[in-house]
Amino acid sequence: MKDIIVLSIETSCDETSVAIVKNGREIISNKIYSQIDIHNEFGGVVPEVASRKHLEVINIVIDEALKEGNINLKDIDVISATYGPGLIGALLVGLQYAKGLSYALNKDFIGVNHIEGHISSCFLEHKDLVPPFISLVVSGGHTMIFNVKDYGVYEKIGETRDDAIGEVFDKIARKLNLSYPGGPNIEKLAKFGDEDKIKFPKSRFEEDTLDFSYSGLKSSVLNYINTNNLKNIEISKEDVCASFQKTAVSMLIENVEKAFKLYGGDKLSIVGGVSSNNYLKERFKNHFKNVKVYTPSKVLCTDNGAMIASAAYYSYLKNGGSEYSLNVSPNIKF
Ligand code: KG4
Ligand code: ZN
Repeated sequence: MKDIIVLSIETSCDETSVAIVKNGREIISNKIYSQIDIHNEFGGVVPEVASRKHLEVINIVIDEALKEGNINLKDIDVISATYGPGLIGALLVGLQYAKGLSYALNKDFIGVNHIEGHISSCFLEHKDLVPPFISLVVSGGHTMIFNVKDYGVYEKIGETRDDAIGEVFDKIARKLNLSYPGGPNIEKLAKFGDEDKIKFPKSRFEEDTLDFSYSGLKSSVLNYINTNNLKNIEISKEDVCASFQKTAVSMLIENVEKAFKLYGGDKLSIVGGVSSNNYLKERFKNHFKNVKVYTPSKVLCTDNGAMIASAAYYSYLKNGGSEYSLNVSPNIKF
């Protein structure tokens, strides 16, 4: 079969990323321009600033990706971009750019769901990972479990009913005056803390659901910090981080364990920004002895164009390209 080379643009949040990927599995280049330093000043992503910055750098990132891959635009077969979920203005920059490029070059265009991108991120480094498998998506905006039956065939079997796990890492970090994004900073401090020091409650639903709730855990950690602050009692940030992280990860493990009981299988992929957390990876690997656990390397855990290109490839093989009438879908559900 002829090789298919996909160029992908990801601009759903605060990273402008352009990647070129061969046959859905081989990264030719993956350039990421992160806006973290800009948003850090505000303690979180400012949507208007994000779209302006995407617009400013997208041409440069495209050029860099082509240069790094030593490839010409004429050698690209398909142009793709994330169409949702994400920030509306930010998504528009990448999607419209991709449509324009595809039209100008007379190449097929395809829109990709960002979550499908995260699920596909493991295909780029783990050639032995093929469906079926269970996938846990843990990011700043999502906490979901999927039964991946085939490429592009996903059954959502669990999701958060309120906050996403990454969002809670970020909110707690902010309360502790740690910089954005909070996840990596919480992980760093947690290493020096006692994870059994503070008992934060796990949220629970009915026995037969794989859904999550993180707002209860978030509130109890914030209450602990506020109450001690009011009483002028000094807290150990390290113990708070370690105890919170332990509870947050235990909740994930419990539901993934239920997923394997219900759906069987022996492969698990954990993807999304929070999957770069080493404590989380260790806990899962120690807990699931008969399951092979796949995680992407750090650069593919957080938002990147390569994962979008991988998802685009499998979707293109099955269904061909998208229409130009495809619009951004900031709140699209899976
Ligand atoms: O996948 P991602 O880049 O963006 C979304 O699609 O949301 O994920 C970003 C999230 C942030 O909430 C960030 O705090 C979290 O991933 N994160 C981490 C770690 N690294 C990034 N959370 C916990 N531990 C980490 N080491
Ligand atoms: Zn993401």
